[in-house]
Amino acid sequence: MATHTSLHGNSGQHPSGGGAGSSRRGDSPLAPGTHSATASSIVKTLSALHSTTTAQNREFEFTSIDFERVRKLIYEHAGIALSPAKQDMVYSRLARRLRACGDKSFAQYLQRLERDRGEWETFVNSLTTNLTSFFRESHHFDILAQQIRQMKEKRVFRIWCCAASTGEEPYSLAITACDVFSTLTPPVEIIASDIDTAVLAHGEKGCYRRDRVEKLQQAHITRYFTHSATDGDIYTARPELRRLISFRRINLLSPTWTVQGPLDAIFCRNVMIYFDKQTQYAILKRFVPLMRPDGRLYAGHSESFIHAADLLRSLGRTVYVRLDSPLR
Ligand SMILES: C[S@@+](CC[C@H](N)C(=O)[O-])C[C@H]1O[C@@H](n2cnc3c(N)ncnc32)[C@H](O)[C@@H]1O
Repeated sequence: MATHTSLHGNSGQHPSGGGAGSSRRGDSPLAPGTHSATASSIVKTLSALHSTTTAQNREFEFTSIDFERVRKLIYEHAGIALSPAKQDMVYSRLARRLRACGDKSFAQYLQRLERDRGEWETFVNSLTTNLTSFFRESHHFDILAQQIRQMKEKRVFRIWCCAASTGEEPYSLAITACDVFSTLTPPVEIIASDIDTAVLAHGEKGCYRRDRVEKLQQAHITRYFTHSATDGDIYTARPELRRLISFRRINLLSPTWTVQGPLDAIFCRNVMIYFDKQTQYAILKRFVPLMRPDGRLYAGHSESFIHAADLLRSLGRTVYVRLDSPLR
C-alpha cells in the first residue's frame, strides 16, 4: 500500500498504473465561497479543458521521468494511483504552479517541492479530484434516515464523512438529520474531512452557487439556506446546519486520524476508487474498530469491498457493516 513517506523517501511502491486512476472523473465547478477554493476549482476545470495539451506545444519541459516522480509522490503521500494516461492532466494542473513559482521546468519545480513544505500542500490540492454534489447517490440518505430513526438509545448519532470535498456531502447528511428530527439542532455530530485544504475551506464557509443548490428540493433550500437579494447567485448554509459539522484535514493515509469511535456511520464515497486494493484494505481495516457493531459504512456506487470480506459484510446498495454486526 501507499505509505506516508518523506518527499525524499524512495521506499514507497510505484504507483499502480491500473483502474483507480482510470476511473477518475472531471471536477465540479465550485461556488465562489472562498478565494482559494474558487481559484483551485477554476484551475482544475480549465485544466480539464486544456488536457489535450500536447508535448510539442507545452510551455514547460515535462519528461516521463518528471511524470513518474509526480506519480510516485502523490501515491506515497495521498494513496492516489495515477494511471499513465494522466500525464496531460498532471501537466495542466501543475503548469500553473510552475508559472506562479517562476520555475522553468518540472524538474525545477520538483526540486522546489523537496525543500518547500508550503508548496507541498498546493501540490496535493492541485492533484485531487473533487467532483461532488448535494444528495449524490440519494438512496444512501434514505438508508441513513432509516438508520437514525432506528436508533434506540437517546444519544448523539455520530457520522464521519471522510472525503467531504467542498461540503455538499456533509451538508446533505446534516439536512437528512434535521429532517428526521424535525429540528435544526438534532443530536447529530458530523466530522467532515478531506486531504485537500482548499475544498475544506469552501465547505466550512458553506456558500454555494445557485446551480449547485438548485437540484435540492425547494423546501430544503428555503429551510436550510439563506439567500437575500444582495447575495446574488450565492446560497449560504444556515449557521445551525454549519454547527452540526466540524471540518478538519485528515489524510486517510496518515498513521493517525483525529477521529474517535464509536461511529454510527462512515461515509467514504468516491475516494477509494483512487486507491489501489492494498491501500483500500489497510484503510478499511482501520475503519472497523471505529464503527459501532450496528454502524454502517457507505461506499461510492462503483466501489466494492469484496476483497475485504474478512472485515466487512455487504448489506447491498454499497452499504457495509462489520462482520460481527447483528444487522442483516
Ligand atoms: C471525488 S471526491 C468525492 C466527494 C464525495 N465523497 C462524494 O462522493 O461526492 C474525492 C475526494 O477525496 C479526497 N481525497 C483524495 N485522497 C485523499 C486522502 N488520501 N485522504 C483524504 N481525502 C482524500 C479528494 O481531495 C476529494 O475531495
